Amino acid sequence: MPLACKALQKPKAAMAIINSASTKLRWILAPLLVLAMTTTRVHGQPSSTSGFISLDCGKRNNTPYTDSSIRGIQHQSDAGFVEGGLTHQIAAVYMAGAPYESQKTLRSFPNGSRNCYTLPSTPGKKLVRALFTYGDYDGLNRTMDGSPFLFGLHIGANFWEAVNLTNWDPSSTIWKEVLTVAPGDSVSVCLINFGTGTPFVSALELRPLQDSMYPFVNSSVSISYFRRIRFGQATDFITR
Ligand SMILES: *[C@@H]1O[C@H](CO)[C@@H](O)[C@H](O)[C@H]1NC(C)=O
Ligand SMILES: *[C@@H]1O[C@H](CO)[C@@H](O)[C@H](O)[C@H]1NC(C)=O
Ligand SMILES: *[C@@H]1O[C@H](CO)[C@@H](O)[C@H](O)[C@H]1NC(C)=O
Ligand SMILES: *[C@@H]1O[C@H](CO)[C@@H](O)[C@H](O)[C@H]1NC(C)=O
Repeated sequence: MPLACKALQKPKAAMAIINSASTKLRWILAPLLVLAMTTTRVHGQPSSTSGFISLDCGKRNNTPYTDSSIRGIQHQSDAGFVEGGLTHQIAAVYMAGAPYESQKTLRSFPNGSRNCYTLPSTPGKKLVRALFTYGDYDGLNRTMDGSPFLFGLHIGANFWEAVNLTNWDPSSTIWKEVLTVAPGDSVSVCLINFGTGTPFVSALELRPLQDSMYPFVNSSVSISYFRRIRFGQATDFITR
């Protein structure tokens, strides 16, 4: 079964986990637990969204809204969660096919090597998700021009992952997730400019997790999402 999670941050601790056969099983269980959690959310009470943050990056209208395809979750503009950056819309030709409302706008960061969002949080385990839909917003056909288009993501001071849009279909969305422990009353998500294309982000989400979930995730070990598979008969493909 092609399921796995990748350890990141504090590389030495992460390596130790990857090399231990007994913990491999627990890595494999991780996506299943995410699945159980999202299913509970679907059928849960509205109060189960307490602590959820869903930012529609680059949206100019500050009024929170509910996406008709993702019921029960309020999205809001990212204004006030980040300094600087420029707001954009994806190209008109990709608008109709955008999978979610939040993918129609984005915020780009042409200045600075590191631009950070501050997501209000409580201390403890969180799922942080970032979505990237290029949608030829700048009209430069940048994902398909043959040159590398790559930038980085940090959670606080720790490297999370690279976002590689090289040769990427401009209408497709790159989806990144990390399970991490929030050290205090906020989580910092930073976009890092590698000099290979202007970093941008389309949506940023934070979901509280119960501290008993994912026992191998602690203040020095985070894991990033690799693949999510739904078992059984699933007709509702919305992930919250
Ligand atoms: C980028 O920096 C230039 C020069 O300092 C400034 O004029 C411009 O407003 C900045 N743009 C953004 C998006 O911060
Ligand atoms: C983008 O670039 C690719 C590769 O050069 C080319 O095939 C495609 O037609 C271009 N698309 C647009 C909208 O310019
Ligand atoms: C980025 O993606 C391109 C196209 O798939 C690939 O050739 C390249 O090696 C990737 N770069 C990195 C640093 O992963
Ligand atoms: C986090 O978990 C790893 C692996 O189980 C362990 O080596 C490390 O000591 C833990 N760190 C903390 C701060 O509990």
